Amino acid sequence: MSERLTIAIQKSGRLSKESLSLLNACGVKFSINEARLIAHSTSHPIDLLRVRDDDIPGLVMDGVVDLGLVGENVLEEVALERSAVNENAEYKALRSLDFGGCRLSIAVPRESDYNSIDDLQGKRIASTYPYLLQRYLKNNGISAKNVVLTGSVEVAPRAGLADAICDLVSTGATLEANGLVEKEVIFRSQAQLIQNANPLSAEKQAMMDQLLPRIDGVQMAKE
Ligand code: PRP
Ligand code: ZN
Ligand code: MG
Repeated sequence: MSERLTIAIQKSGRLSKESLSLLNACGVKFSINEARLIAHSTSHPIDLLRVRDDDIPGLVMDGVVDLGLVGENVLEEVALERSAVNENAEYKALRSLDFGGCRLSIAVPRESDYNSIDDLQGKRIASTYPYLLQRYLKNNGISAKNVVLTGSVEVAPRAGLADAICDLVSTGATLEANGLVEKEVIFRSQAQLIQNANPLSAEKQAMMDQLLPRIDGVQMAKE
């Protein structure tokens, strides 16, 4: 009975397409049924679990899956959150990947006069990354109110919910479209391949010993 290596990837979002392309380029073939959470590889004993990116670190840390492809932003946020509530936050970082580049930044409405981080003292900042934001504010001696939203952070200032936002920026189009200006970059991120902290079974490790050099090869070829 052969074991199957399980990999969690983002179902739909900035990392989805390139996560699948990377596996495909490694010769691991999938035919994705959009309605299904799990996709079995047609070429290897590998299963894909297609989930929300925010769920990937926890699934890897808890050993629900062996591997995950996820942005460092989400990874670090979940690790901080789990540490804060004494949950296991361990994982093995295998590779930094050359896609999914973005930054987590603080932005304010175009018309607000912002000179330095001190102007955030006592203000309300909307974010889906409360732990990364709090760590940054604390390191800079700022005490501000965290308005935690799960989405549509960019509309919070216009809706009167916050004075500033802290969100991912890639092209900057979202900020621009919402009349916001980027002021502080608090975290730079790219995609990472992570593994559960416990050793894999011999059979799964043998699969990894084949897969990792292929991933490195694909990455090198793109440079
Ligand atoms: C991020 C962020 C913005 C957008 C910024 O969302 O929340 O909405 O990307 O990108 P831009 O600078 O190129 O306009 P993401 O797509 O990562 O999805 P999520 O917020 O649902 O996780
Ligand atoms: Zn997300
Ligand atoms: Mg978004």
